Amino acid sequence: MNAHPTPGDAATALASSRQRTLALTDCLDEAELLAQHSPLMSPLVWDLAHVGNQEEIWLVREAGRRPALRPDLDQLYDAFRHARADRTALPLLPPDAARGYLRQVREQALEVLDAAVFGQDDPSTGQDPLLAGGFVFGMVAQHEQQHAETMLATHQLRSGPAVLAAPPPPPARPDETALPREVLVPGGPFTMGTDTDPWALDNERPAHVVDVAPFWLDTVPVSNADYREFIADDGYADPRWWTPQGWAHRQRAGLEAPLFWQRDGRDWLRRRFGRTEPVPPLEPVLHVCWYEADAYARWAGRRLPTEAEWEKAARHDPATGRSRRHPWGDGAPAPEHANLGQRHLQPAPVGSYPAGAAPSGARQLTGDVWEWTASDFLPYPGFTVFPYQEYSDVFFGPEYKVLRGGAFGVDPVACRGTFRNWDHPIRRQIFSGFRTARDTAPGEAR
Ligand code: AVJ
Ligand code: FE
Repeated sequence: MNAHPTPGDAATALASSRQRTLALTDCLDEAELLAQHSPLMSPLVWDLAHVGNQEEIWLVREAGRRPALRPDLDQLYDAFRHARADRTALPLLPPDAARGYLRQVREQALEVLDAAVFGQDDPSTGQDPLLAGGFVFGMVAQHEQQHAETMLATHQLRSGPAVLAAPPPPPARPDETALPREVLVPGGPFTMGTDTDPWALDNERPAHVVDVAPFWLDTVPVSNADYREFIADDGYADPRWWTPQGWAHRQRAGLEAPLFWQRDGRDWLRRRFGRTEPVPPLEPVLHVCWYEADAYARWAGRRLPTEAEWEKAARHDPATGRSRRHPWGDGAPAPEHANLGQRHLQPAPVGSYPAGAAPSGARQLTGDVWEWTASDFLPYPGFTVFPYQEYSDVFFGPEYKVLRGGAFGVDPVACRGTFRNWDHPIRRQIFSGFRTARDTAPGEAR
């Protein structure tokens, strides 16, 4: 969001998140909405009413100080009370009742928005910090868009005929494939995180200076063609490339290629939203877990970038010393910058979006695929919970690795250079890829 969001911006963000939620659920019949497509995911009808329940809690009750509409739903749609695999057994609202609940909540939320005054994010004004800059409206719109991405992952896991379709991104141009393999990110301090982005979530705050040694970063994400070399070189069979936990997981889970890949003689096919097609060599590799990304990097003689390195490569402008909101600058993402917003249902070829390049020359740091980093999900120095502990705080620790950048399924409202995503290192049903890095050699540093 821009520096001073208006109530009109909030209304637009809420409307577009709802449009996406409905597009992802109106295309399936009642049985498919109630089904458990994977033990890793909720039935879609749970996500549907869960976004309504969060909106009721934060916009109707907290921001609007209005009475609860359906307090009986709170525990059913509390993500901490029921594991995803157990949610089909709950007495969930059937699809039409869930849609009705969403409409009822939205009507009241828009009345609350109509009456709201978005003050400055300045504690001395005494304004409710939930309303400053329209934060709580932005938080709820982002929450719904995050669930839209989760629902897209459920669509990818479901079997049966395809129901989603979108045009492919433009094909790679010849110059895009002739980019330098890596870019040098100069050493020195940069500002990580933010104090000023009005809709940044608690884990992105506060801004703090981090000194990062110079390093080399892949210009583009690791492609399917690159990743096939690792497979062909028996990378999955060689414990030298894997951490002990990664190797144990590889053995236990029988990993031998990214999720959704299947062998076709000497070739590989992949299933994408209900269609099977040859693995496109120039696309960033997708649906790999952290252990696979880490093993590939070691096989390539490299390593994953740390979270701070990733953010410096994406945001630091050496000309001004400032950190940008996005790799290309502070302006909102436009189609020429990045593959976001589910307008394509696959990543664009590596090297796409020259207009979205960072000052370092790295491309596609935003959009296409989430990028695994080497880092555990930890609070920044001076972190404070806002507004609820279960968004970030309960997840901090070594059980989760950070992903950065955002995939084709991420909406621009939930995407910025400071945005932090996280998951267990074994997860690969998410839209995850990666790029690799290396230290500079002695004398190479600037
Ligand atoms: C930030 C994607 C890890 O899905 O668990 C949704 C987002 N938080 N509802 C998740 C979220 C609460 C979160 N991730
Ligand atoms: Fe949620």
